[in-house]
Amino acid sequence: DTVNREKYRPAYHHTPLYGWMNDPNGMFYKDGIWHLYYQYNPYGSKWQNLSWGHSTSTDLVHWNHHPVAIQPDGLGMVFSGSCAIDRSSTAGYGKNAVVGLYTSADASQTQSLVWSDDNGETFRTYAANPVLTLESEARDPNMFWDDDARQWVLVLAHALEHEMLIFTSPDMKKWTLQSSFGKGIGAQEGVWECPDLFRLPVEGSGEEKWVMLCNLNPGGPFGGSATQYFIGEFDGKTFKADVDADGNIPTKWMDFGKDHYATVSWSDAPGGRRTVIGWMSNWQYAAEVPTMQFRSANTLPREARLFKAADGQIYLSSEPSPELTALRGSLSLKVRKASVGRKSRTYVLPSANDGVCEIVFDVDARKSGAVEIELSNSDGGKVVMTYDAVAHTLSFDRTKSGVVDFSQDFPAVTVAPTFETDNRISLRIFIDRSSIEVFGNNGNFVMTNLVFPTIPYTRLSVSARGGNAKIENLHIYSIKEN
Ligand code: FRU
Repeated sequence: DTVNREKYRPAYHHTPLYGWMNDPNGMFYKDGIWHLYYQYNPYGSKWQNLSWGHSTSTDLVHWNHHPVAIQPDGLGMVFSGSCAIDRSSTAGYGKNAVVGLYTSADASQTQSLVWSDDNGETFRTYAANPVLTLESEARDPNMFWDDDARQWVLVLAHALEHEMLIFTSPDMKKWTLQSSFGKGIGAQEGVWECPDLFRLPVEGSGEEKWVMLCNLNPGGPFGGSATQYFIGEFDGKTFKADVDADGNIPTKWMDFGKDHYATVSWSDAPGGRRTVIGWMSNWQYAAEVPTMQFRSANTLPREARLFKAADGQIYLSSEPSPELTALRGSLSLKVRKASVGRKSRTYVLPSANDGVCEIVFDVDARKSGAVEIELSNSDGGKVVMTYDAVAHTLSFDRTKSGVVDFSQDFPAVTVAPTFETDNRISLRIFIDRSSIEVFGNNGNFVMTNLVFPTIPYTRLSVSARGGNAKIENLHIYSIKEN
């Protein structure tokens, strides 16, 4: 086994045992097992030799590592793609075969088909690859079975054109272009990559909507990589985004931190779940972060939901997957109610399994303007989160979080809209050695940020400006060590 040599390796996030990782891709769920593939260089900790690494889990938090599932061949490196379960053997590899589609990348980018007859452990290559060739860069095929039209739908990123192309097929081999989405819409900088398209119910209404994920890099709200999305209608061939009250198509962001990219969902998740996971880094500095044995972790798994906000718009929420509550170890602190003013109240974080915990609490800022939430250590390292109840935002300042000087793009302040109108928020904060994920109001706003404290943060301090605020139902949990 590979022994961990990194103090920054997370305890409960997915990481490769060694080597470089970027996008999660090709994920599917079958027979009780969550399969996760990822862009992987097994030979070093920089982006090279791209292959599909493979991990599996029964609970989305404990991962088993498997041999590399797909390796480069004569058509090039193995870029991102997707897998689907072919229930009725449309591709001819048997009922319930796992079929994958990925981008073969050398000087050009074409789409290649693979299938597995051992449930995703190994893949066999279709002899007539590539199945799809375009004139300009197109990548990250994401396909799903459309049960209404009884055919396959494929969304492909036309990276430099800032559009997503939609194809259909009876067998995943012959693809017909049906439409394109995105020209002149949304954030248009950089390249468009890693699409996903799925349908979800809108909470509190009988309505269903389609969601188009468009990862883009650079051009994110705080620089570099980020995931934008659009809400709309899909008729089997064309995706049409909804407009706001002014007739514009708004740009919406799935996460308001700097380290959330290439997010896509699992195919065939059970119980109608739409479980997603993202790469917890940013192309601005992914190759410079202070780890060597491995580079990059994935985000915690999240459940996508749709909710209607006070502005009448529908937004995508990302709630921590229910499996995460099973990670809670002992309750190290519980406070039912506390009033805070200018002078901060300080709470101690668990020392068991240092630098790893979950913090849950509600903030009532109806009688104050802003609430400051600080995580700190005795080496001067701190992360400052400010809930501005007037602007309805939560900011996250990591400029003094610890080691920040490996890239000029790393020190940053990120800001999320909180979407509430009543000056109250509930927070679930997951700390895992080198990452902090903040989920607000059950995932209605999320911020994912890396941090590299020289020593773990040991304190949580809360203070308020412009009056007193209330902290309620504070629970600090240690995390079970396997
Ligand atoms: C996104 C991406 C994809 C591509 C992969 C290559 O991060 O650039 O578009 O398939 O990474 O590793």
